Amino acid sequence: MPAIVLIGAQWGDEGKGKATDLLGDRVDYVVKFNGGNNAGHTVVVGDQKYALHLLPSGILSPGVVPVIANGVVVDIEVLFDELEALSARGVDVSKLLVSANAHVITAYHRTIDRVTERFLGKRQIGTTGRGIGPAYADKINRVGIRIQDLFDENILRQKVEGALDQKNHLLLKVYNRRAIAVDEVVDDLLSYVERLRPMVADTGLVLNQALDADKTVLFEGGQATMLDVDHGTYPFVTSSNATSGGAATGSGVAPNRFDRVIAVVKAYTTRVGSGPFPTELLAREGEWSYTAEAGEFLRSAGFEFGTTTGRPRRTGWYDAPIARYAARVNGVTDFVLTKLDVLTGLERIPVCVAYDVDGTRFDEVPVNQSDFHHAAPIYEELPGWSEDITGARSFADLPKAAQDYVVALEEMSGSRMSAIGVGPGRDAIVVRHDLI
Ligand code: GDP
Ligand code: IMO
Ligand code: MG
Repeated sequence: MPAIVLIGAQWGDEGKGKATDLLGDRVDYVVKFNGGNNAGHTVVVGDQKYALHLLPSGILSPGVVPVIANGVVVDIEVLFDELEALSARGVDVSKLLVSANAHVITAYHRTIDRVTERFLGKRQIGTTGRGIGPAYADKINRVGIRIQDLFDENILRQKVEGALDQKNHLLLKVYNRRAIAVDEVVDDLLSYVERLRPMVADTGLVLNQALDADKTVLFEGGQATMLDVDHGTYPFVTSSNATSGGAATGSGVAPNRFDRVIAVVKAYTTRVGSGPFPTELLAREGEWSYTAEAGEFLRSAGFEFGTTTGRPRRTGWYDAPIARYAARVNGVTDFVLTKLDVLTGLERIPVCVAYDVDGTRFDEVPVNQSDFHHAAPIYEELPGWSEDITGARSFADLPKAAQDYVVALEEMSGSRMSAIGVGPGRDAIVVRHDLI
């Protein structure tokens, strides 16, 4: 009864979608347990490229039952847009299940996300503007709307009234915006009810029964460890638990049922939005490897532009303390190291092994936010390689320097590197240890 959790180790966009897709033909269920359409996963299958946001990446594998579990926040319009777009491309989406307990993102969540960001000015989080934070805030404040509420118009209306009561005061008086009418929101939500009905299920029960029946279930995390609301670089985080613990609370499957935790980690680091990022390459002058030019190299070679918002991603070198932190917080059993091919052509590759915080050495991620903001990376340089590695399919196919890079990262990062991505395509992978 393998239950496998797959999460991101850094600040997102590590290639979780590709890793999930890779395992697709060996799993029965793929479960999205946190986040919503803030995620953006690009999956390349042959000459076809898919961008998934709200739907779990496993939807691309024909035998898989995709599940949107209770921990997700669902923008229903986006849900149907994505389903229609995939259907039009011949993907079978008929097996999708949506938890009756998942919360709904409404028009007022999207509006509040955008206006609060604008009001934060320089302190803004750089959210994706999809209403994620405000929808989770309502959930925690106990004024959220759940999928099951849509099936009783009276209850839905009462709940929307309750939620808008305070929010319209805020929108009108603080943010100088127009009030949102209850009817507008209710009518919009009700318009999806009949299409939604056949998908809605007690997904916690379904998943536990699947595990009882020896099915293989993959729990696919959105976002990543450093964006987790508890364990990330708060307040520059998303509003859900993107770490492995979120797979339990976000799905209704208990922690003692999980067999394996796979963390996807890039061979360098990227981040979208605001917040601390010790290895970010910003310097205007100095040795090339430590300048913004090296950052630009990573951005163009790795095509580091957001799948959801198109924003250029901030770039920097691999940060081993962050990988170790991810290994600890998530209980990582295996890393999937992605985008090793992007580093081809570099003479030397810096790797952050510790931080210098105002003269004090930190070997681990500092717990204090100000310390992390001041953390200057202490680098070790590893030799690079110039051979094209995109055709490598076994570890022995990699040049010696690339093998050494992987082994060095493995020693620093707290868990074994079981698979290595060498290109965006489905088959561009070197597997050292089976993941299932
Ligand atoms: P996710 O959000 O973690 O699923 O990652 P994204 O899809 O946002 O970003 C990862 C990007 O890297 C996608 O465009 C993938 O197609 C691409 N990718 C994944 N693995 C590799 C790899 O090993 N090499 C290269 N060159 N690209 C990769
Ligand atoms: P995947 O699943 C990278 C970032 C946003 C912002 C912060 C909060 O593709 O790895 P939110 O809209 O969630 O309230 O924004 O989190 N963020 C991501 N960054 N990849 C993602 O998802 C992200 N989802 C949210 O840029 O800094
Ligand atoms: Mg992404």
